[in-house]
Amino acid sequence: MSTPPADIVVKLGGEVVAGPEVAALARDLAQLTAEGRRVLVTHGGGPQTTALSQRLGLSPRILGGRRATDDATLEVVKMALGQVNVDLCAKLRAAGLRPVGLHDGVRARRRPPMVIPAVGPEPVDLGHVGDVTGFDLALFSRLIDGGYLPVIACLGSGDDGAVYNINGDLVANQLAGALKAQLVLVTGAPGVLRDVRDPTTRIARLTVAEGRRLIAEGAVQGGMVPKLEESFAAFDLGVTSIHIVPGRVREAIAAPGSVGTVLLPS
Ligand SMILES: Nc1ncnc2c1ncn2[C@@H]1O[C@H](COP(=O)(O)OP(=O)(O)O)[C@@H](O)[C@H]1O
Ligand SMILES: [Mg+2]
Repeated sequence: MSTPPADIVVKLGGEVVAGPEVAALARDLAQLTAEGRRVLVTHGGGPQTTALSQRLGLSPRILGGRRATDDATLEVVKMALGQVNVDLCAKLRAAGLRPVGLHDGVRARRRPPMVIPAVGPEPVDLGHVGDVTGFDLALFSRLIDGGYLPVIACLGSGDDGAVYNINGDLVANQLAGALKAQLVLVTGAPGVLRDVRDPTTRIARLTVAEGRRLIAEGAVQGGMVPKLEESFAAFDLGVTSIHIVPGRVREAIAAPGSVGTVLLPS
C-alpha cells in the first residue's frame, strides 16, 4: 500500500457529538483536511443509547464501562448510533467537509466472555458485543481519495451475518493500529484525571504503567477504563500517538499534552 487510507483517526464520544463543542470540532477537522491530513472519523453513542433504552423502558447494564447488549439493547444501539451518525454528518457538512456516514467497513466477531475486574473474577458474557476482526480499508481509501470524510459508526458485522455493538474506543484504536495512524479520542472529560471529580488534576502525559496503576487503584473508572485498556493494546499494533482530549484536536497533536492527555507507551 503506498498512500495509507488515512493518517489520523478522530473518535468522537456520544456526549461530544451532542454537546456545544461539536461545531468547533468540525471546524478543526476541516482545517486539518485543508492542511492535507487524511482524516477518518469514528463515533460512539453511549449517552444516546442509554437515554433511548430508558425511554423504551429498558434498564441499561454497563459493566466496567462496557455495555451488556442483549437483543433489545442491540436494536436500541442500532437506532441511537444511526441518529448520532446523521446528526454528526450534518455538523461536519456545515463546516465545509464532505462526510459520508458509514455503518459498513468494520468486520467483527462475537467477543468471548471476559473478566471485568470491577464485576468479579468470573468471565462475563456481554451478549452482542463484538471484537474487530478487520476493516474495509479499500473503501475508506476510495472515499478519502475522492475528497470525502468517512464517518464510521461503532457497529460491526460478522461472516455469520450478525451485527455487533463494539465499544467506540476499540474501533478507533484498532483502526488507528491498522493504519499506523495518529489517534485522537475526543471525550467529555478534560483528559485523564487523577481525581475524576477535580478537573484541575489532569495528567498531561500518562505512561501505560501509570495508567494501569490508576485503573487498579480505582482512580480511573467507567468508560475511561476501556478507553485506556484499548489504547494500551493499540500501541502494540503500531498506533503512532494517542491523545485523549475534550476538543482542540489540532492543538493536541501539534503540542502533545498541552490539551488533555497524551499516552506514552513507556
Ligand atoms: N480518572 C478519570 N479521568 C477522566 N475521566 C474519567 C475518570 N474516571 C472515570 N471517568 C469517566 O469516563 C468518561 C469517559 O468515558 P465514556 O463515558 O465512555 O465517554 P466516551 O463517549 O468519550 O467514550 C468521562 O466522561 C468520565 O466521566
Ligand atoms: Mg466510552
